[in-house]
Amino acid sequence: MYLLTILPLLSLPLTLAKPPANYLLPSLTNTSVQVDTKPGCSALDRPYIPSQNSTTYEWWYFDAVSSDGLSSVVLIPFSGPIVGRHYPQFLLQIVTPEGEIFHTITEYGPNGRMYVSTKGDGSSGIIGEGDFTWIGEPDLGRYDLKVDLKEHNVSGSVTLISASKPFLLCDTLGPEASTQSFWFLDWINLIGDAVAIVDLKVGDQRVAFTGNGYHDKNWGPVHFNQHIHHWYWGHARASLFSVVWYKMVTNANETKSGAWIAKDGEEVISACVEDTSVDIVPFGNNVTIPPNRANDTDDIDGFTISVQQGGEEYMFRFEEKVWTPGYGGTYARWIGNFTGGKVGEEEGWGSGVGVTEQMGPFGGLVL
Ligand SMILES: *[C@@H]1O[C@H](CO)[C@@H](O)[C@H](O)[C@H]1NC(C)=O
Ligand SMILES: *[C@@H]1O[C@H](CO)[C@@H](O)[C@H](O)[C@H]1NC(C)=O
Ligand SMILES: *[C@@H]1O[C@H](CO)[C@@H](O)[C@H](O)[C@H]1NC(C)=O
Ligand SMILES: *[C@@H]1O[C@H](CO)[C@@H](O)[C@H](O)[C@H]1NC(C)=O
Ligand SMILES: *[C@@H]1O[C@H](CO)[C@@H](O)[C@H](O)[C@H]1NC(C)=O
Ligand SMILES: *[C@@H]1O[C@H](CO)[C@@H](O)[C@H](O)[C@H]1NC(C)=O
Ligand SMILES: *[C@@H]1O[C@H](CO)[C@@H](O)[C@H](O)[C@H]1NC(C)=O
Repeated sequence: MYLLTILPLLSLPLTLAKPPANYLLPSLTNTSVQVDTKPGCSALDRPYIPSQNSTTYEWWYFDAVSSDGLSSVVLIPFSGPIVGRHYPQFLLQIVTPEGEIFHTITEYGPNGRMYVSTKGDGSSGIIGEGDFTWIGEPDLGRYDLKVDLKEHNVSGSVTLISASKPFLLCDTLGPEASTQSFWFLDWINLIGDAVAIVDLKVGDQRVAFTGNGYHDKNWGPVHFNQHIHHWYWGHARASLFSVVWYKMVTNANETKSGAWIAKDGEEVISACVEDTSVDIVPFGNNVTIPPNRANDTDDIDGFTISVQQGGEEYMFRFEEKVWTPGYGGTYARWIGNFTGGKVGEEEGWGSGVGVTEQMGPFGGLVL
């Protein structure tokens, strides 16, 4: 009798058990604050630092790249000290089909607020009194984003329809799993690959395409750029394969590399290693590895991503179509072509597009 009444409850989807919650960021205090390092039983896309102090940071990251690899958009509502002051900020980068780069960081000052609410695992939020709005479905299946940056004449919508399940970089997703990559950088991946529909107006130009999209979330207790020397990161699709990759090197020369590979939306590899069984290597004429100065990115033509796990081997290659400079020369981002697949099954290799990044070196610089 007891079992019979409990069983139907246990079979309910996990998301229904998560109550909706409201957050107001940054909610600053002067003390050490709670920084969640586990998904727990709350929304996966929630703020993990409900009340921030002057060193904590938290951001939501969304992007989309067109299926010809020539246009893209990156949207980052941000709360933390990494770029400028500890105010809510909205970072927006758009590459138009003509190759023009629109890049802006809007700071909202000491009275700036970011509203975030969750339902199920999804989050919805508003920054800058409507400069940017996102609405996430409770099951993370879809995000509707809206930009309305009046002072720059940029407006429009981005829709991401998820083509994958959420995952963590260095653990198997579950309430007690660790979200830390290093202690100063937490990371959860809500949408490793999505169908993206973009319709933006930048001044009198139109940026409208379908392609691939992505959404993840990062947070941490102290500025990560004091500890990270550099990282390579990216996501892309090649035919049936969706791939997310990274390689992070700290100032103490500790290295963590990882790759998540899904085939037809089903995870086949999720690896986080400290050796070269997952390796990300930039190529190009005169590329310095590791990068040793700011702006050390313009010689890079692309990256190879090699993954050897459980007796299987995958090889992918990202080739630059458009290079974009980041803030103060401390990062660069590329959009371009992506090819590859499983080694030994080359006849099944296909191509697609992706977005990739080199972050750092910061050289002790705190932005
Ligand atoms: C934090 O401390 C500073 C001075 O040290 C003070 O001006 C400020 O009001 C404090 N803020 C909060 C939220 O307590
Ligand atoms: C903010 O909180 C984090 C996490 O508790 C702590 O590591 C950090 O030292 C705090 N920063 C300040 C300025 O109190
Ligand atoms: C925005 O558009 C208006 C009207 O077309 C124009 O006057 C203004 O200069 C534009 N602003 C920017 C930043 O492009
Ligand atoms: C950093 O570690 C790598 C191995 O992971 C090694 O090849 C390299 O020489 C080290 N660099 C420094 C500056 O110690
Ligand atoms: C290679 O890079 C170094 C500095 O990083 C520079 O001095 C040199 O001129 C470059 N060589 C070529 C062929 O671009
Ligand atoms: C890197 O390049 C940017 C322009 O893209 C420039 O503003 C910055 O000063 C450069 N930084 C260094 C250290 O050369
Ligand atoms: C990208 O791939 C397409 C075919 O998939 C090819 O035509 C094009 O030349 C490639 N571009 C670059 C820069 O590799």
